Formats: sequence, structure tokens, C-alpha cells
Amino acid sequence: MKKKKVISYQEYSSISELPEKEALLLQEAIAATDASYSPYSKFRVGAAVRVSDGRIFKAANQESEAFPSGMCAERSLLYYVLSTFPDVPIEAMAIAAKKGRKLTETPTRPCGACIQVMLDAQNRGGKPIKIILGAASKIEVISSVNDLIPFSFDNL
Ligand code: THU
Repeated sequence: MKKKKVISYQEYSSISELPEKEALLLQEAIAATDASYSPYSKFRVGAAVRVSDGRIFKAANQESEAFPSGMCAERSLLYYVLSTFPDVPIEAMAIAAKKGRKLTETPTRPCGACIQVMLDAQNRGGKPIKIILGAASKIEVISSVNDLIPFSFDNL
């Protein structure tokens, strides 16, 4: 029998079109790119999360002289938030990146390892995490991590 999984997302052409809360979170992710340490890739990724009580936290990618030791913005942020507030659900996460000083033209989508950790965070929080992927001329809003990883590992 043939089966079909359909993923859905919304697309916007500028930050001003986004609902206010999402626009604010994306601004924080863009601001977070300032703290990127990326002398090797020159790709400055910023991520911001809003937790259920409204607080916002942000982080950026950190590279290392020993390449594999570097860490993406999303996992740097999630591991901090989950270890500091283990019982506070995450409501939304925004991601943006700059090449040099310029915001990328197309959305930066999280890597596979980060998506898995985003899914773990969503499962721990017990409610969907909204994902806002920002860029200069396109913004994608995905309503759940499940739409980023429809065939996920699930051994719970
Ligand atoms: N990077 C992130 O921070 N998040 C992603 O989802 C993909 C890649 C970082 C890792 C590295 O510092 C740089 O971007 C280039 O891959």
C-alpha cells in the first residue's frame, strides 16, 4: 500500500509580514549572529528560543581549532536552555545566518544533528516547537519539528 506524509510550512517575504512574536524572536536570532565565533567557515549562525514563560535566550555557532569540536548555534543554545531550565517547555526557535556581515538570501535550515536535538527538546516539552527560518528575502515558518523530520527515530 502506498502511503504519503505531507509536511507543511508558511513562507513570508519579509520580517515585517511575520506576527509580532515571531518577528521579535527572529530579530534576536539575527542579533545572536554577532556572537558567532566562526573564523574557519565565516558562516555566522544565530539561534533564539522563546520558552513558555516568554523569556528569550540566544546563542551562536562556536568553531574550534580542532574542527570537530565546534558546535552549531542550535545545539549550543538548546543544551544550555535544557540544562538550565529542564522543565520549561520551549515554544519557538528562530534561526538566521550571515555570510560575513550580510544576512543570507535563503533560509538556513538546521543540520540533521540539530534537528534531532530539536525533536528531543520538543518531546521533553510536550508541545510543538514553532521554527522560524529567517533570511533576507524569504522566511519559512514550520509549526512543529516533526515537519522537519517526518521519519524520526523514536525509541521512547
Ligand atoms: N552551523 C550551525 O550553527 N547550524 C547549522 O544548523 C548548520 C551549520 C554552523 C557550523 C559551522 O560553524 C558553520 O555553521 C558552517 O557549517
